[in-house]
Amino acid sequence: MNTSDEEFFKSLIKKPTVFKNISCLSVTYIPPYLPHREEELRTLAKYFKTIFEPQDEPLRKVCITGPTGSGKTTLAKRFGQLLQNIDKQNNFLFVYINCRIYKSPYLIVSTLARKLNKAIPPRGYSFEELQSLLIRLLDFYSVKVLLVLDEIDYLISRSGTDFLYVLLRISEMTEKQWISYIFVARNLNFIHQLDASTQSSFQSNHISLDKYSETDLKDIIKSRSELAFYDGTITEDAIELIADISSKSGDARYAIELLWGAGQCSDDENSPILYPDHVRKAKALIHPEIRREVILTLSLHQKLILLATIRKLKHTKNAYISTNDAISSYKLVCEEYNEEPRKHTQIWTYLKELSKQDVISTKISGEGMRGKTTLISIPDISVETIELFLMKAIESQKKTIEHM
Ligand SMILES: Nc1ncnc2c1ncn2[C@@H]1O[C@H](COP(=O)(O)OP(=O)(O)OP(=O)(O)O)[C@@H](O)[C@H]1O
Ligand SMILES: [Mg+2]
Repeated sequence: MNTSDEEFFKSLIKKPTVFKNISCLSVTYIPPYLPHREEELRTLAKYFKTIFEPQDEPLRKVCITGPTGSGKTTLAKRFGQLLQNIDKQNNFLFVYINCRIYKSPYLIVSTLARKLNKAIPPRGYSFEELQSLLIRLLDFYSVKVLLVLDEIDYLISRSGTDFLYVLLRISEMTEKQWISYIFVARNLNFIHQLDASTQSSFQSNHISLDKYSETDLKDIIKSRSELAFYDGTITEDAIELIADISSKSGDARYAIELLWGAGQCSDDENSPILYPDHVRKAKALIHPEIRREVILTLSLHQKLILLATIRKLKHTKNAYISTNDAISSYKLVCEEYNEEPRKHTQIWTYLKELSKQDVISTKISGEGMRGKTTLISIPDISVETIELFLMKAIESQKKTIEHM
């Protein structure tokens, strides 16, 4: 580092900031207090009140549903933390699995087994071997497990319902019913694919979260601000404006992103106080439709095809592009990133998966176009923002792969 770089770095670390603890606004942070979800936390506690008792208990299955950003994941994780804190005998294990990341039943069962015994290799067993190994491990360690399967609706739409029965059966086959479940989904539609008795057990233990109201969001933003910002650095008006903007969707994730973005804008301007104008600036940069976590979980080539689609949409300024256009743009993007393009059938599978995850939307072309073709679009967001985010994600994924 030469002297001017050092000076720059020094001035950066000395720069005043409104953030006391910025990590309290990260996507993975679980706040110790969840305004407007206290009742639901208590309901969960009632469902699981006998989890630590040694005698046999019927299998516990609870379902949490609600729209995006209504706090489903956070509620389930917070509850897991609470149980972990209470567990004095050390015979309780909280396992959180996001089915978007652990996309196959095999991965779920092997992750669970490896939580019980780290020495188990991640691959190399047949699924049946893995199941019986898990049953033996559970009986051997006598550990009560609370397994959260988040975004289970995604996995069911991808892999069907068989894996769910397999999982439920594993628990029934152990000496005691060691595993209890919390299933998290956007809504209960997925249960229609289950048999009648499983359906009714899901319906009877169901916590349905509503989207947050403006006042709920205000309380949430206030409590998160107290954790993340220095006292007195955010104005009441700024908090109200964030609550107002995010109340259209009732999405707390969007509210927290706005809060984070507004803090960044305030720091960029060297302002000691976060004002409504910083919120307005953040709003122009942040879009509620982008779920950054979802983009991060895509495979490298899914990201490349998404980037290709975005670029083509940007270039043509049309609302839709044809699949052929997307594919030719994908080949260019592969060239840019030095990647071998995948075959057509594989690209189709990627497109279908992106559509299932609502990252892209597809429709069949109507009248006025020769032949029928699939048209692709991106939900109403600024393609610029998502393009930059994607490029960064692709670069960092490539670096990780190269270092592996
Ligand atoms: N009651 C609350 N208090 C404080 N923060 C909250 C509350 N509810 C949600 N949040 C925050 O809002 C964000 C979104 O919440 P969460 O991820 O739990 O939503 P979700 O319902 O799981 O959404 P999705 O369906 O998109 O997965 C998280 O950053 C979380 O910390
Ligand atoms: Mg979630």
